[in-house]
Amino acid sequence: MAKLSVKDLDLAGKRVFLRVDFNVPFDENLNIGDDTRVRAAVPTIEYIIEKGGIPIIASHLGRPKGKVDAKLSLEPVAHRLEMLLDREVRFARDCVGDEVKKLAAELRPGDVLLLENLRFHIEETKNDENFARELASLADLYVNDAFGAAHRAHASVEGITRNFAEPAAGFLMEKELGYLDRAMADPKRPLIAIIGGAKVSTKIGVIRNLLATVDRLIIGGGMCFTFYKAKGFAIGKSLCENDLLNEAQVALDNPKLYLPVDVLVAKDAETGGLTHTVAADAIPDDMAGVDIGAKSVANIIDFLKGAKTIVWNGPMGIFEIAAFAKGTEFVAKAVAAATKAGAVSIVGGGDTISALKKFNLTDSVSHASTGGGASLEYLEGKELPGIKALKEK
Ligand code: 3PG
Repeated sequence: MAKLSVKDLDLAGKRVFLRVDFNVPFDENLNIGDDTRVRAAVPTIEYIIEKGGIPIIASHLGRPKGKVDAKLSLEPVAHRLEMLLDREVRFARDCVGDEVKKLAAELRPGDVLLLENLRFHIEETKNDENFARELASLADLYVNDAFGAAHRAHASVEGITRNFAEPAAGFLMEKELGYLDRAMADPKRPLIAIIGGAKVSTKIGVIRNLLATVDRLIIGGGMCFTFYKAKGFAIGKSLCENDLLNEAQVALDNPKLYLPVDVLVAKDAETGGLTHTVAADAIPDDMAGVDIGAKSVANIIDFLKGAKTIVWNGPMGIFEIAAFAKGTEFVAKAVAAATKAGAVSIVGGGDTISALKKFNLTDSVSHASTGGGASLEYLEGKELPGIKALKEK
């Protein structure tokens, strides 16, 4: 990979500002609901410690918009990290200011410090130069392992790098980019993309970009209905983004695009209710599409059998409701089977990762990305500011 790696840095005795993405979900009792992102940063943290460096770890959590919000404190994450590292993790009550400067200065090799939520300061999301300099003053070196935040031009991701001669990527960042770069720049073919989810508007850029590269692009989920409407089909009470009909029409002209041929419809999309499967052009007026149908699933399984590279982002239906989960479950199983047969599969997006978890298939794909928005922007062909800011090798 073209970016400087943490492995290229001389870490011994150095304080390392390590930007991670610890933006983890919490349950109603304020316990960490899923610590995947914390676990994913452990190899870089351990490597820095092993080489005699001192990690000063920083992250955002939620969107507190510059206000201190106790519910968005990173303190519970410090405890979880302590368990995962099996060593003490000090916690700083702020990420800038005299107290944290003192704490950072006292650190010795073997110590680990986690800073409080960066977004308690509005300057973080504003990419404020002085704030970035303050953060940078805590450390000698900079490593970014926050792939999930790489699409944000924020102070700890972008501005801060101007204060270091050798801003480098951590192992998670390298792994994420390694998979995505290979899939997009030099894929083993056939390369098949599956794009689902509710909205065309959030993914039209991805669809456009992928159509130029992939051998086949499968559409699923709530966004199907905007495509059906663009084709002139009646869609009943299904989701539709009318302002995207022209864009959908343009994509439909591309023969690589596959639209499901049948749909599971329901009277009540909230609860499950009565369902049946209809042809894509026969959705009743009083019903809404909630999942792809069995014929479409069979077609997708067939396409995936020959795949060598698979990129999947977005579920096929409302999988959170058991009655509407079959399409997503079968597609997940087909991606897992193709992976077992030798394909490289890259899955991204919060909902798709939750679906994989629900069906116990997270370990059955080649790479489950920790980045939602970041992986989408990458697939859209955009240059991510957090990656651009790292030094070339
Ligand atoms: C994410 O969860 O996608 C990242 O942590 C970025 O969070 P943000 O969308 O609040 O910037």
